[in-house]
Amino acid sequence: MSYQAEYDHSMQNPEEFWKEKAQDVSWFKFPDKILSQDENGIHHWFADGEMNTCYMALDYHVENGRGDQAALIYDSPVTDTKKTYTYKELRDEVATCAGMLTELGTTKGDRVIIYMPMIPEAAVAMLACARIGAIHSVVFGGFAPRELAIRIDDAKPRVIMSASCGIEVKREIAYKPMLDEAIKMAEYKPEHCVVFQRPEVTADLSSERDIDWQEACAKAKPVDCVPVNGSDLLYILYTSGTTGKPKGVVRENGGHAVAMKYSMKAIYDVKPGDVYWAASDVGWVVGHSYIIYAPLLQGCTTILYEGKPIMTPDAGAFWRIVEEYKVKALFTAPTAFRAIKKEDPDGEFIKQYDLSSLVNIFSAGERLDPPTYEWLSEKTERPVIDHWWQTETGWAIAANMMGYEVKPIKAGSATVPVSGFNVQILDDNGQPVPSGVQGNITLKLPLPPSCLTTIWQDFNRFKSSYLDTYPGYYFSGDGGYIDEEGYLFVMGRVDDVINVAGHRLSTGEMEEIVGKHSAVAECSVVGRNDNLKGQMPVGFVVLKSSVTVDEAELSKELVQLVRDSIGPVACFKEVYIVPRLPKTRSGKILRKTIRQIFNQEEYVVPSTIDDPESLNEIKALL
Ligand code: COA
Ligand code: AMP
Repeated sequence: MSYQAEYDHSMQNPEEFWKEKAQDVSWFKFPDKILSQDENGIHHWFADGEMNTCYMALDYHVENGRGDQAALIYDSPVTDTKKTYTYKELRDEVATCAGMLTELGTTKGDRVIIYMPMIPEAAVAMLACARIGAIHSVVFGGFAPRELAIRIDDAKPRVIMSASCGIEVKREIAYKPMLDEAIKMAEYKPEHCVVFQRPEVTADLSSERDIDWQEACAKAKPVDCVPVNGSDLLYILYTSGTTGKPKGVVRENGGHAVAMKYSMKAIYDVKPGDVYWAASDVGWVVGHSYIIYAPLLQGCTTILYEGKPIMTPDAGAFWRIVEEYKVKALFTAPTAFRAIKKEDPDGEFIKQYDLSSLVNIFSAGERLDPPTYEWLSEKTERPVIDHWWQTETGWAIAANMMGYEVKPIKAGSATVPVSGFNVQILDDNGQPVPSGVQGNITLKLPLPPSCLTTIWQDFNRFKSSYLDTYPGYYFSGDGGYIDEEGYLFVMGRVDDVINVAGHRLSTGEMEEIVGKHSAVAECSVVGRNDNLKGQMPVGFVVLKSSVTVDEAELSKELVQLVRDSIGPVACFKEVYIVPRLPKTRSGKILRKTIRQIFNQEEYVVPSTIDDPESLNEIKALL
């Protein structure tokens, strides 16, 4: 079938379209309600279906002849470990871990925070929660205790699952002290912390709350899958918004399973038995969807890689994995490819490995910049597919749907809308713009399966962040345009969110943290373009008039403050002390203009500016 026919079907008759796709996963009771609306008018998919995501991802395959097939391959150059789990082995580990959680009193609807490095137990923990209907919330290991504490207070988990350490190239990072600090900071206290002891670091488990993972699992009895409804939550994943408080994006079981399964063939063109690799982290949405759930729902072999694109040990790491496990589809963020390109510009490593299994390369997390696209497609001689998505949707909004008709690639474009997504570009007044004209990227409601249905415990924020700006549409926060041939070009965020090495961060949050320093009167943080990481945050700080400080010392303190508060992934390393910030007459900081000046982009002096000289002060820093 052509892409257009498939897409048009999803637009013309969404219920029929998704009912058909829902038949591809194994329900305990097929839903009667395909699309329904709640009392707030929010759409839910498959609300009354009975199911279990863990059953669909593991048990179903064991019962249907895939028990001995590799489900998950753990490859860890940082610990020199390789381990394969068959579907049966993974099912058994998950059932036992779920038994342990049950013995700790965890039941359907309870929250469980998972703060773990890239080890198989992170996948086991997620699937174990799904098995008993508990709602997991994975927190990326590179976040500092304060970020973890914010999530603990919001999600109120009964249990936190963690490990004794993570390993960053050669550096061991002890997790338990960070976990303890986070619990100390948080108002809400979990009942238990279950900690997986890695040989590299032994965690202190002397508190009554602490439980040794391996010991508890050795005693636990495996449990079966608990039926949940399609609209019950599978997970909460926090993502950066424009304020200091992250948003708890919620994912419902039913729509998620159907969209994940559909995407594997439709977008990635992989079938059961194929090897699929998303080189990401389970702490991010890409990790949730494409390291864990989608490949397993499809009966593929997934790879969980504990390493970097470079340095572990070199820029050939990705190609080694492709050869060794016969990877058919590789998915990662542009920043990883830029890191590889920097170390291996002539593609010498690429030539050393047999990439014959590799059919397509996929990229997301930020726009795949044309030079990186050109380099990668030339050196690998493979189609390189940029696709655009967000934590909020859980899967691609726009892509080249490789399972259907393959469209000619245009560098810099995420190609065309994916089935179910009605992408519209609107101007600031909510009017559609002609093709080729940039505007705000929106999605006409209803959203397709898997997309968020609220913010955890904060429906008003869900409405104000996404639905109120353009009634009848979901506002993505991204800007871009659609060309005459219907190709979507996503050009970047129109809000105060930045993307640093594929990590989504809030400049507003950094401003709040910097603003707390006793010497700082006010500040602004904007994203500077960066050749490797896409963007890097830069701070502009105005001092309180009463203070005199050593500017270099203050910069160091502010950098440390952000690192301690958000974590090393914030990459906040550049601070400038300025006499004042460019503002409008009503006192609003002109962040966009500061960003444009600092990135040496064209800009228009806003007519509302209070004092144009303040722009020259920013220019003078260049
Ligand atoms: N736990 C603890 N610390 C972590 C961490 C984790 N899980 N992940 C990153 N960090 C730390 C790094 O060690 C580094 O610390 P440092 O400032 O002390 O050196 C800091 O956070 C910044 O990390 P990162 O932005 O990842 O930069 P890097 O220089 O270590 O590596 C790349 C650069 C391009 C190799 C790396 O960013 C990368 O692989 N990116 C891919 C991102 C990705 O997969 N995104 C998912 C979306 S698909
Ligand atoms: P996250 O929720 O962390 O996945 O980040 C989502 C944001 O990353 C989007 O709103 C975009 O700003 C950006 N993004 C992700 N993929 C792409 C892409 N292919 N092209 C352009 N921007 C992207």
